[in-house]
Amino acid sequence: MKRALITGITGQDGAYLSQLLLSKGYEVIGIIRRSSHRGVEDHRLRWLGIADRVTLIDGDLADLSSLVRVVKDVRPDEIYNLAAQSFVASSWRQPVLTGNITAIGVTNVLEAMRAEAPNMRFYQASSSEMFGKIQEPAQSETTPFYPRSPYAVAKLYGHWITVNYRESFGLHASSGILFNHESPLRGIEFVTRKVTDSVARIKLGLQQELRLGNIDAKRDWGHARDYVEAMWLMLQQDQPDDYVIATGVSTTVRDMCRIAFEHVGLEMNDHVVIDPAFYRPAEVDVLLGNPAKARAKLGWAPKTTLKEMIVEMVEADLKRVHASGLLS
Ligand code: NAP
Ligand code: GDD
Repeated sequence: MKRALITGITGQDGAYLSQLLLSKGYEVIGIIRRSSHRGVEDHRLRWLGIADRVTLIDGDLADLSSLVRVVKDVRPDEIYNLAAQSFVASSWRQPVLTGNITAIGVTNVLEAMRAEAPNMRFYQASSSEMFGKIQEPAQSETTPFYPRSPYAVAKLYGHWITVNYRESFGLHASSGILFNHESPLRGIEFVTRKVTDSVARIKLGLQQELRLGNIDAKRDWGHARDYVEAMWLMLQQDQPDDYVIATGVSTTVRDMCRIAFEHVGLEMNDHVVIDPAFYRPAEVDVLLGNPAKARAKLGWAPKTTLKEMIVEMVEADLKRVHASGLLS
């Protein structure tokens, strides 16, 4: 039985990756940071019905000693580094924390691996945000980076330290440059989930308006369930490498939002209010990935269209709102 260690197991991708690895017969261990709200952090694992099939161990990406201890105790075959301060908008308000976790935290995990288990395989969650002010119309592994947020700057560090440890120490360390991926387990602060949750509430009469920022921004959106498969495939290759994971289709926030409202028979213009409070100090106007390398070398392709995913998210949020008891 292979053993996988996942940092960020309580997040969206951590939950779906756990589900995938369990289905492949892995033993799954996750790092969970200490919180005074014990018992609620694993809600995504519970949503997928797998909370009692994974083991959670205390640790924090800012604390090298905890990572060394966990790697030494667990001795995993594969480690997936998904933990991060991952919300771009927060990274301007908490730039130092973002750097400590999203950038230096990667070095902490790599150091723990180098010291305790240099033969294991490592995955780093890099991001299309690193392309920022895009230098080519479709971004691939060879497109120059131009980060536009403290988050993207931190991710760029995490990306290059992964490449550097691979080249310096011969580690099997791969970096997935993943474009935006969503699901019913997406955090409520990200735009797709904010939209689908609000659409459900508006449809059920609990809310009237939805306040958004720049709805002309374009993103290449895929489904998290499809994208975690690419992470796993990267670690099954003989040679470590870097891969862009995307759908190759870019859509405006406006059009994504329209799909959600239309699914429940509502007109978005009757409810959406543009609020400058949600504009960012520097915006990434458009992202469009070219996943040709992943298709050719990993045999990976996305399975879910944007429309299918948004419909799944709206339906899940309608169920959640019903189950919350707010309607009674
Ligand atoms: P997410 O839902 O925000 O999950 C982030 C995870 O990191 C959570 O489990 C969180 O724990 C954990 N974490 C945060 N700070 C930590 C710390 N100091 N020590 C240990 N754990 C910590 O993010 P996601 O959408 O699943 O994304 C997974 C990774 O892929 C992230 O690195 C993200 O930046 C990257 N990425 C995401 C996308 C995307 O579109 N989703 C695209 C490209 C790259 P808590 O539950 O305690 O908060
Ligand atoms: N969150 C949010 N809230 N975004 C809004 C809103 C709003 O009310 N209104 C417009 N937007 C626009 C943002 O300005 C951005 O251009 C776009 O919607 C997407 O925002 P997010 O969903 O917050 O995602 P992101 O693209 O900034 O970052 C996500 O994708 C990255 C990969 O490219 C995160 O998952 C990052 O962790 C990830 O690396």
